[in-house]
Amino acid sequence: MPVIKTLEELKNYPFSPYDGPRKVLMVKPDYYNVTYKINPHMVDGEGQLPIIDEKRALFQWEKLKAKIEELGLKVFVIPGQEGFPDMVFAANQSLSVDSRHIILSKMTHEERKGEVPFFEDFFENHGIEAKHLPDEVEQFEGTGDALWHFGMDLLWCGHGFRTDLKAVEHLGDTLGLAVVPLKLIDENFYHLDTCMCILDSKTVVWTPKAFSEESQEIIDSFFPVTIEVPYEEAKETLACNSWSVDGHNVLIPQGTLTLKEKLENHNFTVHELDTSEFKKAGGSIFCMKLAFS
Ligand code: ARG
Repeated sequence: MPVIKTLEELKNYPFSPYDGPRKVLMVKPDYYNVTYKINPHMVDGEGQLPIIDEKRALFQWEKLKAKIEELGLKVFVIPGQEGFPDMVFAANQSLSVDSRHIILSKMTHEERKGEVPFFEDFFENHGIEAKHLPDEVEQFEGTGDALWHFGMDLLWCGHGFRTDLKAVEHLGDTLGLAVVPLKLIDENFYHLDTCMCILDSKTVVWTPKAFSEESQEIIDSFFPVTIEVPYEEAKETLACNSWSVDGHNVLIPQGTLTLKEKLENHNFTVHELDTSEFKKAGGSIFCMKLAFS
């Protein structure tokens, strides 16, 4: 299956149906902290690294886990590891392909590379084969940059900051996945899951300015319903890092006023969660879990 390069190809592609993953992997925020800056959100107005309230972070993480369980998904947890303060962002280290395979990421920053083997161990221990990317792929940050379309065997892939085009081409050409590359152009939205959230097979939440013009056009013309989050709101609240658990219940970060109203107007059931401690590292709901089959 190809890398889909034009709108025409995308519209005519015979996608097969895809059953969304029903299991979730989370990493306990045992050693969660902000000790370096690898995205613009990780410093405050004065350029200082923020202070993390560990108790609050754990409380917010537990609330998120409880909400996911309440909505009927099984949550697996791996402990956080000393020296890996960003490991709680469990979307980034891998991508679930099907019930037998996951693809391991190649993290961009030295600081995060050592997180990946803990995910490899988890999957190997659960009978899921963890595949390594070839040498020519230098960067791939898993489900942070690769979003499954709802109910369709189609993968939307962000590239430009944390994932290179080679990775996208590899997923399409070698692994037989139908992928659409989307170019990210604003470093505040360094992962695709910071600027795009697929709610169901027809509906997307996004902030257009995060994408190149060509990518904006592809998204805009493919989805029958596009819900736009204003640039400032998307940047300040990480509103697009929401998660549509089942095409109906949507978990969103607290304080995303425009998004909340728009989702309610479109009849989604909205669950607001406070992830303020995690926003300090540039992450929120979607990237604090890995959905897998
Ligand atoms: N500090 C982490 C980083 O910059 C945050 C990752 C959040 N993950 C995400 N998929 N948006 O790598």
